Amino acid sequence: MQPLATYIKTKKNWDERSSVRSSDETYDLKLNNIDSDNDTGLQFSTFCPILNHEKFKHLDKRQKKYVTGLQLLEFVIKTTKFEVDHVNRVANSIALGKYKFDIPKVLKLDALKIYTDEGYHAYFSQKISDQIMDYLNIKDDLMPYVIKFFDKVDNIKLKFDKKYHYLSDLSSVIVSESMICNDISEEMKGIVYEPIRVMFKEHLHDEYFHSNFFGTIFKIIWPQLSDKEKEIMGQNLIDAMNVFAEPRTDIYFYSLSKFGFSKEIISKCIDDTHNNDEWKIEKAKKRMSNLLRLLDTCGVFKIQLLKNKFEKRGFI
Ligand SMILES: [Fe+2]
Ligand SMILES: [Fe+2]
Repeated sequence: MQPLATYIKTKKNWDERSSVRSSDETYDLKLNNIDSDNDTGLQFSTFCPILNHEKFKHLDKRQKKYVTGLQLLEFVIKTTKFEVDHVNRVANSIALGKYKFDIPKVLKLDALKIYTDEGYHAYFSQKISDQIMDYLNIKDDLMPYVIKFFDKVDNIKLKFDKKYHYLSDLSSVIVSESMICNDISEEMKGIVYEPIRVMFKEHLHDEYFHSNFFGTIFKIIWPQLSDKEKEIMGQNLIDAMNVFAEPRTDIYFYSLSKFGFSKEIISKCIDDTHNNDEWKIEKAKKRMSNLLRLLDTCGVFKIQLLKNKFEKRGFI
């Protein structure tokens, strides 16, 4: 079986090198040791496009640090939940043979490694999130600013009958695991504070193995689907790609409102920044280039209905 042979060859030393086994990090950020006015000491991120908007250019360094800190928080809060609620639900089903597919033993076993890795990623993401919340003195629950994303992920399955819902769960995880390396790299841009960089680097390192794993899972299950299931999963995939490609901007309603900006202004600035072809098509396509290649290799675009949908969306 060709995909499996390639997988076994390329997964190399994942077992020994996964962060949960090899890292001696404690993820203690020691943020209170940092002079809060010193931007070289703690730069949360430079990758926060909305701050280039005319309306926000005048914000001072401390305010910009707050906005980027909140963006980082959004990322780690979302990661914690996604890893254990979504990726691990699918990893559990693969490991315990809950799907109807023939899945080779080695992948079932490695699904438990995914489960372990993701549990660990959720742990350090939460630990970092708690520390940043304390540092920025945030007492509010930020989940309402993250939950819409999860609602969108959960709604993908509702287009089809309940018996096909597992295909949607699989699709969302295959899509997200193929994009996460790119997303972590983007999120890391401009973060100079070493303890936070270390957390991202460790996560990124593990995710290279995960994207290989889920790419292989897709190659193995796709040929086992009926024509109808292929059509459904193909549509789940494009819906998931739409959800994951969308910049998550709800957190700006929290952070920017602290500086007196109204909902309407924030909304307009999000629109000005992100509602264009550059964000909706070009950047999205770039983030999904590996996945699009995978789908092409597996013959997904040979199905006319799916080809039309991907073309219409501008992804192929
Ligand atoms: Fe992860
Ligand atoms: Fe992962």
